Amino acid sequence: MTLGRLAIIKTYFVTGGAGFIGSNFIGYMLEKYGEEIKIINYDILTYAGNLENLCGVETCSNYSFIKGDICDKDLLTTIFKENEIDYVIHFAAESHVDRSIIDPEVFVKTNVLGTASLLNVAKASWLNEDKETFKAGKKFVHVSTDEVYGSLGETGFFTEETPLDAHSPYSASKAASDLLVKAYFDTYKMPINITRCSNNYGAFQFPEKLIPLIINNALTGKKLPVYGKGLNVRDWLYVKDHAKAIDMVNQKGKLGEVYNIGGHNEKTNIDIVKIIINKLAAMLPQNDARREKITEDLITFVTDRKGHDLRYAIDPSKIKKEIGWEPETMFDEGIELTIKWYLDNAKWLKNVTTGDYSNYYDQLYKNRG
Ligand code: NAD
Ligand code: DAU
Repeated sequence: MTLGRLAIIKTYFVTGGAGFIGSNFIGYMLEKYGEEIKIINYDILTYAGNLENLCGVETCSNYSFIKGDICDKDLLTTIFKENEIDYVIHFAAESHVDRSIIDPEVFVKTNVLGTASLLNVAKASWLNEDKETFKAGKKFVHVSTDEVYGSLGETGFFTEETPLDAHSPYSASKAASDLLVKAYFDTYKMPINITRCSNNYGAFQFPEKLIPLIINNALTGKKLPVYGKGLNVRDWLYVKDHAKAIDMVNQKGKLGEVYNIGGHNEKTNIDIVKIIINKLAAMLPQNDARREKITEDLITFVTDRKGHDLRYAIDPSKIKKEIGWEPETMFDEGIELTIKWYLDNAKWLKNVTTGDYSNYYDQLYKNRG
């Protein structure tokens, strides 16, 4: 019995697992599969990586954390030699568009060169002795973004056939990494999938991103900065639904294929901000003095983001048809769960918003008006 169970245990090498989506993915997987899987979380812990995101799983005997850089081929090679890794789920990246506008180079280093290192190490480890074919049951899932497709006008959707047309340094670096991953399939037949997801929201998202930034600012009595006129549209997906989609792509995705992940949940930024204001004020306890102060008067329209993409919207029909995935969480429910999480985790929010984040915030928003 024991031997039988051991024989089917799969080892997941999750990069960037201390970040927002990676930590939600690890939580989802350990809850779903328990001891049927083993997870190694590999993360360098940038400002966005936080081991507090993993407090619910760190005592699991089948979970381990290694602090390391995806650019560090020597360390990666050692880990792949010491562990029979079945799946690489690659989240690690610099992920924030505004930061990429300020300092593009680290995006190229991490997102492009880091992905190249990881591909090379996985390929070397997964090749059979003939150096031509790959061992059975291996897969590299590259977690990418709808931003690689550029911007939509008022109508239409991104499909997997939409040409890549990235605009920001962030999305250009993700598009470059996507092409590298595809090249490893086209050239070496390395077993890969690429996923391209729309905007995620949920627990553990760093408050530089719109939804947690608005929640945090409203709770701390700050203005709510809306870029331009607030009419840019994003297609929001609850992070747990994304975690499930990645697991399903890993299990069922056809090798070499790209899968878009999204859920027909388009909203303008100004609508998002107003929804948060209304729900947050209503969810605070009756005797909380902030209830009265969280109003639309806090909204301030600030200088637009450079090269700001107008609209993202995913056509998710391929993943539904081929893999059977559909989003399960309606926005109304997901945003309430998210606000509740931030209210219940005030200490987490305080810990991540002091120090470096506070300097970044002052720098980015000081000249925006
Ligand atoms: P995040 O910024 O919250 O987390 C990124 C993680 O990567 C952090 O833990 C960080 O420490 C780690 N990391 C950064 N550089 C590293 C390096 N050199 N070596 C090892 N680890 C490193 O990002 P996120 O929002 O969780 O996004 C995860 C992935 O999903 C990214 O690849 C991103 O492009 C993609 N994505 C994000 C969204 C979204 O809405 N957040 C949507 C679609 C796709
Ligand atoms: O579409 C997927 C992408 O979604 C991911 O690839 C990125 O990693 C992720 O950061 C996210 O990118 P966006 O740029 O869309 O997310 P962000 O939360 O930064 O901004 C969402 C929208 O809100 C965007 O139109 C800019 C606007 N915005 C953002 C901030 C931080 C504001 O109006 N005010 C703000 O203060």
